[in-house]
Amino acid sequence: MQIIDTFLIGLGNVNRNFLRILEMKATRLAQDYGIAFRIVAAADSSGVAVNPAGFDPAATRRFKETGGRACELPGYSAGNSPADVLATLRCDLALEASPVNLTTGEPGLSAARTALRRGVSMVLANKAPVALAYRELHQLAAASGAGLRFSATVCGALPVINIGRRDLIAADVTRLHGIFNATTNFILAEMAAGRSYADALQEAQQRGIAETDPSLDVEGWDTATKLVIVANSVLGVDATLADVAVTGIVHVTAAELAQEAQRGKTIKLLAMADRIGDGFSLAVKPTSVDADSFLGRCSGWEMGVEIESDLYGRMFHKIWEREPLPTAAAMLRDAVDIFVGRR
Ligand SMILES: NC(=O)c1ccc[n+]([C@@H]2O[C@H](COP(=O)([O-])OP(=O)(O)OC[C@H]3O[C@@H](n4cnc5c(N)ncnc54)[C@H](OP(=O)(O)O)[C@@H]3O)[C@@H](O)[C@H]2O)c1
Repeated sequence: MQIIDTFLIGLGNVNRNFLRILEMKATRLAQDYGIAFRIVAAADSSGVAVNPAGFDPAATRRFKETGGRACELPGYSAGNSPADVLATLRCDLALEASPVNLTTGEPGLSAARTALRRGVSMVLANKAPVALAYRELHQLAAASGAGLRFSATVCGALPVINIGRRDLIAADVTRLHGIFNATTNFILAEMAAGRSYADALQEAQQRGIAETDPSLDVEGWDTATKLVIVANSVLGVDATLADVAVTGIVHVTAAELAQEAQRGKTIKLLAMADRIGDGFSLAVKPTSVDADSFLGRCSGWEMGVEIESDLYGRMFHKIWEREPLPTAAAMLRDAVDIFVGRR
């Protein structure tokens, strides 16, 4: 049995669901993959607690769900960031699911740098470090031999990155358009059905799907960050957020949605990469599409992507995801991919 000593950075919706998966699937993981995850450290906004013998997944999840904080766990020592702890902690893997900060990337970026330098593998659901330091993190991982995966950063459990990297061998993608943000897709669908913007956003927050700071969703930055990750990892473009023209959904009105519906159209917040010469134009904006097109029919809690390439025709992939469990499962699949490999 391979024991994977694991540091949970963030104990919010995603990593609590990772703990839930360990409760549900420990036997399956042992039987099918010969692995077990031991949670040797856990961090939230109050700090980091370390327990080399391992925190119990069920007890830790319940503790957080009932208002507990990492600073109240045994093994807490004051004043340490996740990166400080990673500088010396004996562990194999860090699961980064702290909030997105598109200005500094912190606390995830320093944690990722420190872990990868030391050969500790990183699986991220947090997009910011990946989008802000894509090349650097890959160079650090290559130098130390650590694993680096981030399939959960784009469309939760929909394996957009995996499909793009593994299954489009030798393809030249000409066009990649997607709905990458469930919160805004849900809000637009609910507004079209007569509900208020504020009410729909509140439901997305209650379900744990909205970003910690929901302005990232509605102003289009969450979608743009995912597009940057796709551009780097799938399209081979050295893009940053500055390369994406970004418009969010805040100015889309119920009247506009009704007008488009009368014309057989619907408004979607699209991430768009279109090949122009050797490069791509990258944009995020509310776009009117045919209501019966693939993306037009991605409604409510669905996210989807259309990929056109010279070799593989037109591909259409979508997911229905209304809670963070599938995103946590995407982190699990990334971790299994690193430590067991693909079967
Ligand atoms: N939710 C989804 O469906 C989903 C899907 C794909 C990707 N993601 C990404 O996954 C990440 C986590 O999402 P979430 O929904 O789990 O967010 P969340 O519920 O807001 O949880 C964030 C966690 O990070 C902790 N935290 C805040 N500042 C910290 C710091 N300085 N050091 C360590 N931990 C810190 C918070 O602590 P407290 O508990 O003390 O507040 C909380 O436990 C985000 O980057 C998000 O973009 C989420």
